[in-house]
Amino acid sequence: MRTIRLGVLGSGSGTNFQALLDAIAAGELNAQIVLVMSDVPQAGILERAQKASVPYKVIDCRGFTTKFPEEAQLEVAAAMRAAGADLICLAGFMRLIKAPLLNAFPQRVINIHPSLLPAFPGLDAWKQALDAGVAETGCTVHYVDAGMDTGPHILQAKVPVLAADTYATLHARIQEEEHRIYPAALRLIAKMLSLI
Ligand code: GAR
Repeated sequence: MRTIRLGVLGSGSGTNFQALLDAIAAGELNAQIVLVMSDVPQAGILERAQKASVPYKVIDCRGFTTKFPEEAQLEVAAAMRAAGADLICLAGFMRLIKAPLLNAFPQRVINIHPSLLPAFPGLDAWKQALDAGVAETGCTVHYVDAGMDTGPHILQAKVPVLAADTYATLHARIQEEEHRIYPAALRLIAKMLSLI
């Protein structure tokens, strides 16, 4: 089976990116991370990329704090194409992806979200779950479409919400599952792509 080439976008500490790197190093995922890009120049994900000798770039969002401007999306698409990425993996990327990038990688943009979608889309999903008083939440790997966390699901894992949970403890328990199901979902996709 051909080694799948992954491009990763992230805005934060990059533990999901690290989980992918670790799965690859352990021989559990036949993939190569060809480029990491972040809209946050000081993000931990870029430090991790540098440490692991994975090529990385900062995305120039033209001074917008939440919007992902069209020019920036086109630049990401061009950089990912030049790096030979088969798939774009969002790993804590906090801007909404729209047509310019989705059209460049149709059915090839994947996200990990910290809830059992369709429950709690959007920001800080673990806080939404704790505030709502649900007994369980979890995480979802899904294809990205033009909506907010609305694309078809690939894998989900459930996580109990405990009486003593704080936002931080609940998020940490969800992240343990994220780090397990993101590589697992990519293994499935790699298998499907090898059949096409
Ligand atoms: C993860 O919990 C991920 O599910 C979430 O951001 C965190 C990033 O952590 N993503 C979203 O909320 C996307 N809507 P990481 O930088 O340690 O991987």
